Amino acid sequence: MVESKFSKVDFSKYFQPPSLRAARRRRRESVHIINNFSIPDDMKAIGRGKKYLVETYGCQMNEHDTEVMGGILEEMGYQETEDVYDADVILINTCAIRENAENKVFGEIGHLKPLKREKPGLILGVCGCMAQEETVVNKILQKYPQVDLIFGTHNIHRLPQLLKEALFSKEMVVEVWSKEGDIVENLPQSRRGHFQAWVNIMYGCDKFCTYCIVPYTRGKERSRRPEEIIEEVRDLARRGYKEITLLGQNVNAYGKDLQDLEDYGLGNLMDEIRKIGIPRVRFTTSHPKDFDDHLIEVLGKGGNLCEHIHLPVQSGNSEILKIMGRGYTRERYLSLFNKIKKAVPNASFTTDIIVGFPNETEEQFEDTLSLVRECRFDGAYTFIYSPRAGTPAARMTDNVPMEVKKERLLRLNKLIDELASASNARYQDQVVEVLVEGESRKNSEVLSGHTRTNKVVNFRGPKSLIGELVHVKITDAKMWSLDGEWQREPEAAGR
Ligand code: SAH
Ligand code: SF4
Ligand code: F3S
Repeated sequence: MVESKFSKVDFSKYFQPPSLRAARRRRRESVHIINNFSIPDDMKAIGRGKKYLVETYGCQMNEHDTEVMGGILEEMGYQETEDVYDADVILINTCAIRENAENKVFGEIGHLKPLKREKPGLILGVCGCMAQEETVVNKILQKYPQVDLIFGTHNIHRLPQLLKEALFSKEMVVEVWSKEGDIVENLPQSRRGHFQAWVNIMYGCDKFCTYCIVPYTRGKERSRRPEEIIEEVRDLARRGYKEITLLGQNVNAYGKDLQDLEDYGLGNLMDEIRKIGIPRVRFTTSHPKDFDDHLIEVLGKGGNLCEHIHLPVQSGNSEILKIMGRGYTRERYLSLFNKIKKAVPNASFTTDIIVGFPNETEEQFEDTLSLVRECRFDGAYTFIYSPRAGTPAARMTDNVPMEVKKERLLRLNKLIDELASASNARYQDQVVEVLVEGESRKNSEVLSGHTRTNKVVNFRGPKSLIGELVHVKITDAKMWSLDGEWQREPEAAGR
């Protein structure tokens, strides 16, 4: 599948034009589990004395893929560096979710051009979700000759072979697979954290929300086997990790494709992980449509399952939700929200919201504001709708001017800020459990970490606390963080 002469690249072999019909078909295609990864002998020492750097854009899935690529490169002898001038291999792990995400990447590839001129031996690679888009690959081929290597999200495990090809070829190496993706187990991982870890539980997405590019860049939904996940979590627990985050684009669909395991879902998996001795378990991202009662019941058992639910709503208006293809109404979202809140009373809730979807009216936008007010979210990621080529929404005419979209975003953000402040104010004088993650970004004298409910807490204490779970009494609640005092001998922690 490797093409090294780009004049010969046959895109039809690599790219399936995004199509809903193909998507429906793909669910029936079987998933292959690949379990025989190894570095070819002639590549085992190729990186000795050399350095690599992976720049990561996008979501946690990409962050974790970066850890895998780091793991592979380290097994080839490369060492990590944070300095582009020091690197012999630079990979840009890209995100395609919105236009501005893509623009940032093109900007960065542009910035690296002089470096490539100074250091011709440098390998510059582009991978991740943008590499799955035909238009992007064409643009790189035409306008960015400084790029040596392009590969997609389905063939990360081929990095050794691709790097070799790039090292010895004068042409740009392009390998992007349009297939829906396999599951590759036992890849090396160079985890960035020593006490927090990401664990993939599933890949891909079959939801096909009409605005979203992810189902096309990440392939179909496919779940890892529960025994593989549980073994990975047990191993992390044995190695002293304090917190894991189970990852997937739509974790609530976990297990649906495991045909031999009837009715085995995220609830079952979490119920097993609950029994493993790891202090904190998180999961992201939830989709409201598949969030079932069994999972709610399991979350209600608490223990190591953290009381933070990220439940993207996207819009508070049922008509817009329908055109987005989200599969739930405003009322169903609210009833699910209230059900979870009842089962997990201390839970914090965050969400994602898109404003300015094609033809969104002022009234429809106000429905979003009223839903946000009703749920009193602890925080939200808010976005202006960005048309993605090939998605159904991108073909819709849109009568909402950009100024109106920007103004809606400002109004929404103002409300979110108010609610975040109000939510944090409730922590005043409470004692909370904090996983100490490191020095605060603003002040190296101050330590920083998160509560179980995912609130940022800053406090003063010895550096030896980094990586530990400690208790902190909140003395000053700000909009997006809490300041507190470390409790040497804590009273019982609240949340
Ligand atoms: N799988 C997750 C979301 C992943 S993308 C879910 O369904 O909840 C993260 C967020 O980006 C989405 O929740 C959505 O709010 C936003 N997003 C996705 N596509 C977008 C687009 N075309 N324009 C603007 N925001 C978008
Ligand atoms: Fe995109 Fe929807 Fe899938 Fe989330 S669930 S990744 S928004 S298609
Ligand atoms: Fe971006 Fe791909 Fe994640 S498009 S949000 S990096 S799945």
